[in-house]
Amino acid sequence: MSAHEMLTSNAALVEGALGQYIAQQSSLTQVLTDAMRYSVLDGGKRVRPTLTLECCRICGGEQKNALPFACAVEMIHSYSLIHDDLPCMDNDLMRRGKPSTHAKYGEATALLAGDALLTLAFDVLCDPVNGAEAAVEAVRELSRAAGYQGMVGGQIIDLESENKAVDAPTLQAMHAGKTGALIAAAATLGVIAARGNQIQMDACRQYALHLGLMFQITDDILDATADSLALGKTAGKDLEQHKSTYVTLYGLDKARQMAKEQTDSAIAALHPFGQEGQQLADLAHLLCNRNQ
Ligand code: IPE
Ligand code: IPE
Ligand code: MG
Ligand code: MG
Ligand code: MG
Repeated sequence: MSAHEMLTSNAALVEGALGQYIAQQSSLTQVLTDAMRYSVLDGGKRVRPTLTLECCRICGGEQKNALPFACAVEMIHSYSLIHDDLPCMDNDLMRRGKPSTHAKYGEATALLAGDALLTLAFDVLCDPVNGAEAAVEAVRELSRAAGYQGMVGGQIIDLESENKAVDAPTLQAMHAGKTGALIAAAATLGVIAARGNQIQMDACRQYALHLGLMFQITDDILDATADSLALGKTAGKDLEQHKSTYVTLYGLDKARQMAKEQTDSAIAALHPFGQEGQQLADLAHLLCNRNQ
């Protein structure tokens, strides 16, 4: 199976499960359910849940154990996109090829849909299929990756870095936080679901840390080079908002080279898995060469 086929088949699996998890909520107000479904279903590459499912598989685990973890990560990711697009953040009107959540439902509902996805993620993470010990490990892993030490921490560096030239360590910390942390957690949750060993855990984490940095460098490159239609979100935003990115600090050519270096490092980290790691290696190439 190619990496593209792996993404497509996992996307279908995850979207089915995400729809069910949301459907299981008793609908207090329909508009909240609608806004959550609008944000989390229909669109998105599903890179993070694919990492969870594939890391679980290569560690010898079963899909049924990884699926709730995969859904939880995608819920957190979708919430982060809703909030990232809000007027007080990046003020973006387009996401996943359609109006961003606040553009469709208004700011307050978008804010709350994000909050509801964030909290539902931890409910889903505790799905009994994995047992209490794995659930506790997973909660710690995902809460750290999503919060102060991870995505939220990276997002505040991003906002504070607007309209100024930041140094290389700050930029790397920003990308590792806002994007790398959740991508790394997506991978390590797969290892937890498989009850993998320390060697597998270290390898998957290293792979995903490099993949995450490459992923955000590529996002910066695409913002500067692609068009909005292909991207499914507003291109040229970073320049317009005077963001600090790998493109502004290093220029396009060097940023491209750095993305390739991170891809190579990600693939090298898969060494302990031998041939089983091939699809994750292919995925790294696919994501480095993507156009959306
Ligand atoms: C976009 O993530 C935000 C970043 C962290 C770069 P994705 O590029 O994975 O967005 P979707 O899920 O495919 O829409
Ligand atoms: C966002 O980075 C990372 C998140 C935590 C959502 P960007 O602001 O560059 O993501 P896009 O380009 O809007 O998807
Ligand atoms: Mg942003
Ligand atoms: Mg943004
Ligand atoms: Mg971007």
